[in-house]
Amino acid sequence: RLAMEPSKEFVFNYKGCYFAVNTTPEHVASLENFEIKDSDIFITTYPKSGTVWTQNILSLILHKGHRNGTENMETMDRIPWLEYNIRNADFDSLPSPRVFVTHLPYYLTPRDLRNRKGRVIYVSRNPKDVLVSYYHFSKFIVTLEEIPDFNIFMERFLAGKVLASAWFDHVSGWCNHAKDFNILFLTYEEMKKDLRSAVLKICNFIGKKLSEEEIESVVRQATFENMQKDPRANYANMPEDLAIKGKGRFLRKGTVGDWKNTMTVAQNERFDEVLMDKIKTLPIKFTWDL
Ligand code: A3P
Repeated sequence: RLAMEPSKEFVFNYKGCYFAVNTTPEHVASLENFEIKDSDIFITTYPKSGTVWTQNILSLILHKGHRNGTENMETMDRIPWLEYNIRNADFDSLPSPRVFVTHLPYYLTPRDLRNRKGRVIYVSRNPKDVLVSYYHFSKFIVTLEEIPDFNIFMERFLAGKVLASAWFDHVSGWCNHAKDFNILFLTYEEMKKDLRSAVLKICNFIGKKLSEEEIESVVRQATFENMQKDPRANYANMPEDLAIKGKGRFLRKGTVGDWKNTMTVAQNERFDEVLMDKIKTLPIKFTWDL
């Protein structure tokens, strides 16, 4: 098939998982011993599953100044990347509760986290939409290898030869080891169907009480349309060496079922042949269309 090794110019492999070269194996290895506080929250995803959306929701829930527009701080700075600390956040000086965002597979996360210390919010998305979103993303982010041919990109994705490795391994790993973590599972599609319920689930999980008006404000500001207008929330100010090849944008379409506009019947059959039996074994039931 067409899947070849990803270019070393863009990724390295650490213990079976591909990382972008803007982190190092040493930093990733050090995370095993990263000390977790009980109040820490980790937004955990496979790429293109609603990471930034969830980041924005947490930022709105936890920071009054973001909700009210009185503090102009970017979500990227409030909620830093764990393995890609691109803005050099000082993890120790973050206000409590600290929130981190990560694409780590379960087995590379801090040891404390795997012993049910802190909280994990794991967001997953139907993998056909993930694939299509990922394909467009790779045209747009400087640190990702651009593969203009969708067929080749799909084969790479199916073979797990992309940043964060195989979608199925990521999701099934987290599902199968859920009992080791203090974890809330959400899907992109349920957030899309009923954002308010998803926000309430998150508040409940992290023990944050918001008034009815505050909830309304979070929900309103976390819609796709409003996030597109909010530069704090939409990664508009990504460091120049990371973004942007000048094509596309981070908040691209934000819909469920866009894969139907991209994948041919043959590609869809190939995808199903490789993944559908495996997907059926997962406890998460995905929605393919809304
Ligand atoms: P599309 O490329 O399908 O538009 P991640 O943050 O994990 O990289 O995921 C990015 C995907 O989430 C993109 O999908 C992006 O548009 C979508 N997204 C971001 N904010 C969203 C929102 N408020 N509502 C719906 N989708 C959103």
